[in-house]
Amino acid sequence: MAGVEWWRSAVIYQVYPRSFADSDGDGVGDLPGITAKLAYLADLGVDAVWLSPFYRSPMVDGGYDVADYCDVDPVFGTLADFDRLLAEARTVGLKVIVDIVPNHTSDRHPWFQQSLRDRYIFSTGSDDRPPNDWQSLFGGPAWTRTTDGSWYLHLFDPGQPDLNWRNPQVRDEFDAILRFWLDRGVDGFRIDVAHGMIKAEGLPDAGGEQRLPYFDQEEVHDIYRSWRKLIDSYLGERMTVAEVFDSTPERVARYVAGDELHQAFNFDFLEAPWDPAVLRKIIDETLAAVKDVGAPATWVLSNHDRRRHVTRFGGGLVGLRRARAAALLMLGLPGSAYVYQGEELGLPEVLDLPDEVRADPQWVRSGGRELGRDGCRVPLPWEGDAPPFGFSPGGRAWLPMPREWAARTVAAQREDPDSMLNLYRKALHLRRPATEFAWRPAPDGVLCFETERFLVTANLSGSPVPLLGVPALASSPVTDELPPDTTAWIRT
Ligand code: NOJ
Repeated sequence: MAGVEWWRSAVIYQVYPRSFADSDGDGVGDLPGITAKLAYLADLGVDAVWLSPFYRSPMVDGGYDVADYCDVDPVFGTLADFDRLLAEARTVGLKVIVDIVPNHTSDRHPWFQQSLRDRYIFSTGSDDRPPNDWQSLFGGPAWTRTTDGSWYLHLFDPGQPDLNWRNPQVRDEFDAILRFWLDRGVDGFRIDVAHGMIKAEGLPDAGGEQRLPYFDQEEVHDIYRSWRKLIDSYLGERMTVAEVFDSTPERVARYVAGDELHQAFNFDFLEAPWDPAVLRKIIDETLAAVKDVGAPATWVLSNHDRRRHVTRFGGGLVGLRRARAAALLMLGLPGSAYVYQGEELGLPEVLDLPDEVRADPQWVRSGGRELGRDGCRVPLPWEGDAPPFGFSPGGRAWLPMPREWAARTVAAQREDPDSMLNLYRKALHLRRPATEFAWRPAPDGVLCFETERFLVTANLSGSPVPLLGVPALASSPVTDELPPDTTAWIRT
């Protein structure tokens, strides 16, 4: 769907590099592994690939702890491998977006190693107590004490010290990092914790504050206005997508106003239960909020941080059926959509990973109280009858893969016209940019809307409802009725 402002209607596929495809046999996915599968993604019908971090990192948080923003971690390959990936993406017609992590570095980053404290948020506590009551999003206090008695802030793991964005050297450094990747030819950036870079002056306690003093502060918008100028100085249609969570659609929309970023993830949609009233409200609020600022809506069902939606929607055959219906609901909406690797295979969350293989700091820091996010990061099954299902030529995978995924491999699903893979493929090939949207009358529990492309009907009620026309595509078999947990697209 390339064309004018391609990102307004693009489907962007998220690759979590550790778990996509391994080329060298060490059981961890890598860039050459991704390159070898770009033809698969082009055939699937997506427009762009977003790569989660592949930079030099001690991997405390799966690479969201960056030690060198301008180099590839050896586990993933080299810069030359990245260039080859980009060249192959061009050949098969895919755009490439990379992940930028500006809120924090790794504690192995040279700045932290050299104790350049003015580039981080250091403070003194009192009576052995941290400077304030902020809690890490991974559990426990957001402050860690150094040997000289001062404290540094980490909204995430202690291995991820927060940067001080009031220091111009930090801003200059990130301008240089953006340029480094833009010069290499990337089509854009996904911005990690985009609402977190500025902390309230004086670092007040979070307790009594209406808005968290470490998220969504006004000055963060200055950063994006300046980034937008930098990005717009490059040829081509480069884009940005912001990760802004714990916020309302109106607050999120402020990040995608004309002179700031292009898109923001729709976490309300991702977090919604399979409930028609909730989904309808979120769709309305989303469309209203972005309309005011002229940005496209975005839709997403899963990512590397959340329980996979087959499982969220009930698991087993019910979850799968709903996930099929959800895919056609999402891809029928106007705007842009994000597909997380493996959702096109209908992969469920892996809930029974052995404790000893779990690597997520959420699991580690909560002392095992929270399962963490490893279950949605299990490597992809490509082919064959036994783990690791073609994921690695070395016959191993960094997280164990369920034996029953033999039926979910890409190779197995390719042969089955009714597979989830073929549903996504058909939907992505039929899908065209849409900007218009209007609800149509429908029975209780049924979402029915029309765009300039399709009449989309999603039946979330418990009973079949009449179907007004012959669908171009349906998520489950239909007659002249649309069964429960099914979505159909009828051409308009
Ligand atoms: C959001 C990322 O998606 C997540 O994986 C990471 O743990 C945090 N930001 C911290 O970088």
